Amino acid sequence: MIQNVSVIGLGKLGASMLAGMASRGFHVIGVDIAESSVRAVNEGRAPVQETDLDEMISAHIDKIYSTTSHEEAVLGSDISFVIVPTPSDSRGAFELQYAKYAFEQLGKALAKKDSYHVFVLTSTVLPGATRHGLLPVLEAASGKKCGKDFGLCYGPEFIALGSVIRDFLNPDFYLVGEFDERSGDVLEEVNRKISAKDPIVRRMSIENAEIAKIALNSYVTMKISFANTLADLCERVPGGDVDVISDAIGSDTRIGRKYLTGGLGFAGPCFPRDNVALGFLCEQVGADGDLLVANHGYNKSIATRITTKIAPLLQRGQTAAVLGLSYKPLSHVVEESQGVALALAMAEAGMRVIGYDPLAADGARSAFRDKALVAESIDAALADAALVVVTTPDALFRTLKAEDFLGSKESVTVVDCWRCLDPVVTNHPKINYLPLGRCLDDDFAASVLEAIWAH
Ligand SMILES: NC(=O)c1ccc[n+]([C@@H]2O[C@H](COP(=O)([O-])OP(=O)(O)OC[C@H]3O[C@@H](n4cnc5c(N)ncnc54)[C@H](O)[C@@H]3O)[C@@H](O)[C@H]2O)c1
Repeated sequence: MIQNVSVIGLGKLGASMLAGMASRGFHVIGVDIAESSVRAVNEGRAPVQETDLDEMISAHIDKIYSTTSHEEAVLGSDISFVIVPTPSDSRGAFELQYAKYAFEQLGKALAKKDSYHVFVLTSTVLPGATRHGLLPVLEAASGKKCGKDFGLCYGPEFIALGSVIRDFLNPDFYLVGEFDERSGDVLEEVNRKISAKDPIVRRMSIENAEIAKIALNSYVTMKISFANTLADLCERVPGGDVDVISDAIGSDTRIGRKYLTGGLGFAGPCFPRDNVALGFLCEQVGADGDLLVANHGYNKSIATRITTKIAPLLQRGQTAAVLGLSYKPLSHVVEESQGVALALAMAEAGMRVIGYDPLAADGARSAFRDKALVAESIDAALADAALVVVTTPDALFRTLKAEDFLGSKESVTVVDCWRCLDPVVTNHPKINYLPLGRCLDDDFAASVLEAIWAH
């Protein structure tokens, strides 16, 4: 029975895996090249910001040890999970330099070990990377043979920032890409001990697992874009309301309601880049990736489209506020954030823009440079704003009252991208309320429809 595991890379995903596995009774050795992360873990603190991570590490510190030595990890465990960065390159592919360095260090350590060891790559990579990019590094550094002296798997996780530990312990399924049956057996055993319930385990070749990982994320992005297309359509049909349609078609088990709420586009550190990477892969191997490329282009166009729509609502010299700069509520991450993209597009169109976010102010400030301002408080953001765009359904924004938007102003325009604001705001006579995804001019929309059918 496997009791000793190691995690290489104590970042947003790796540190949560370390804590999650310790909570399931494993003795976990964590490795990071950053001494500050290693020190934090050994002192019982989270090396990165993630929900419940501090508490989980300190609660299970008796089962956790952290080091900068890859050798200690290999010699002190039976299985190593490698979860280091794989940044996107200019073509959209995932770079392997961090993973190669990690596997080289792990291979050198393996050379000193007599017993069998399994390596699991958890970082997101493109098909072929595990077998052709990393396995040769491991074999060269160790002088050993995969399938004989050690095992290899591709074992990605499906987690969302902000709920990494919960997602890690309660996955819908496990994806096991195995070099051989023995490697897969070891990973499945560990997975079954991690999961809170009897999990679905899908075992397959390494390459199929590599495709499945990015295919899942890419599929979700297409669902989001489809919902956004419906929202755009509903704005142009009399009485159109995307929520009514999403609730109806989402009841069909072939579709499901998740990720079907039309609003802004997909964002964050995974969805956009995984979609681009799948498109890149298709192009490289000669498959038709037009659908993926179109999806990316559509998503990127949203900020400009909304800017064009709201530009006539603002007079020269007036200020627009953007509430929500992180890529989703309760996050400090601004990577590929729609709020940031929108604020920049609005500034580019000549508007004076002031943004606000409860957690992402620092990130937004560096993304904006001097093109837009970031307010210290929500009141400061709203004080002079003639137009306000709410870009995330953050609880803080959902509970705002009409007075918060109006202040001492006579009127204000509020664009609600997720139709999440309180009715006291949406029905207020001095607030020009503009929800995305609903028709706001039935007569005009009807005249457009009539013109189509008149001939
Ligand atoms: N964050 C997510 O939401 C998420 C979700 C699914 C998959 N992933 C994938 O997981 C991987 C890691 O993502 P992350 O967000 O945890 O990254 P991160 O940047 O937060 O953390 C990576 C950590 O690895 C460390 N590191 C780099 N090289 C190392 C080495 N040779 N040995 C030991 N440690 C090393 C870094 O110092 C850092 O602490 C990426 O491939 C990413 O695509 C991330």
